[in-house]
Amino acid sequence: MTILASLSPRSLSAPESGIVELVNYARGRDGLIPLWVGEGDLPTPDFISKAAQESLSAGETFYTWQRGIPALREALSRYYQRHFAKTLSPDNFYVTGSGMQAIKLAIEAVTSPGDDMVFLTPAWPNFAASAELSGVRPIAVPLSFEDGKWQLDIGKIEAAITEKTRALFVNTPSNPTGWTATHDDLKAILALARKHGLWIIADEIYGLYSYTGDRAPSFLDVMEEDERILFVNSFSKNWSMTGWRAGWIVAPAAIGQVLENLIQYSTSGVAQFIQAGAVVALDQGDAFVAENVAKAARSRDLLCDALIATNRVQTLKPDGAIYAFLKIDGVTDARRTALDIVDKTGVGLAPGTAFGEGGSLFMRACFLRDPKQIAIAAERLAGYIAAL
Ligand SMILES: Cc1ncc(COP(=O)(O)O)c(C=O)c1O
Repeated sequence: MTILASLSPRSLSAPESGIVELVNYARGRDGLIPLWVGEGDLPTPDFISKAAQESLSAGETFYTWQRGIPALREALSRYYQRHFAKTLSPDNFYVTGSGMQAIKLAIEAVTSPGDDMVFLTPAWPNFAASAELSGVRPIAVPLSFEDGKWQLDIGKIEAAITEKTRALFVNTPSNPTGWTATHDDLKAILALARKHGLWIIADEIYGLYSYTGDRAPSFLDVMEEDERILFVNSFSKNWSMTGWRAGWIVAPAAIGQVLENLIQYSTSGVAQFIQAGAVVALDQGDAFVAENVAKAARSRDLLCDALIATNRVQTLKPDGAIYAFLKIDGVTDARRTALDIVDKTGVGLAPGTAFGEGGSLFMRACFLRDPKQIAIAAERLAGYIAAL
């Protein structure tokens, strides 16, 4: 047996990312406009970085609170009061080493190997992959794509629930589709979860990237106190902190010790200087988030208007998140087309094949970038599409 084959089947079956293939193919080319990964074009603002530097300089380099420093959990509480008009105690917050780790821990907390987890597709591939790594079967329920918009069919979720189902994973606004659940959608999902005794894992990391209101509808708006809902969240997108690897979970206080234990046995907590930056992001970063959202809104319009004007792109403007998920007439192989597009136009897109059922003919473009650059990318893409 080779050394590789002797690894566990679970780790061997973890998929390679379909986005990374494209990035590796064209990374560093002259004039490249990279819209393939989900991040903005700005580094973290100085006022946040300075707080982390000061913490490091002050010698805050020791082991720290597993659940997160009290100052950060208090800042989270203030953030939810401001943006969601919800009074949550610091005991409802658990700091994690990224949104990704929050997802992994949430799945670990509510499922056992052999269980099923229902999730909506097209989806960021990491939900299903992290379930599989925990021995959990991800069951895809595709949203339907009609007249350029994504729609939820609640009946399809109910039909996918079996006696093995433990959790419903709901990402709204969605990466990659931008589908944004309405309050009625959320109420219907919550009713299903209550009826079947399921947990909801709510990934609302793009909640402030809403183009129809101040923020997207949240389960927080429709739930009672202490329901079986774990919210996973991240500092990455709101405050341009993708490289910091910091996130959080919102959970009923009653399960706090269990979440702390899961943190203990995975990372044993997040570096204190990272958390010091995160406190400042929350307390002083609302204006920066608003700038990011305004930039995304402008770039969304520029990109989508130019592409829809070709009359060959079916997708309408997304209501939320930071992606255009494009269905282009005549594209039958998104992976091959994404390679061709980067070769001919220098615009890097992520092929929809990376996002599971229902997305294989689409292409994802992240528009959280300088509108001037997005205008150039839109012109190049429109030229390519018109010539297809
Ligand atoms: C829907 C969604 N959830 C979670 C994450 C994880 O973010 P991070 O691990 O950078 O905090 C991402 C990143 O792209 C995402 O799109």
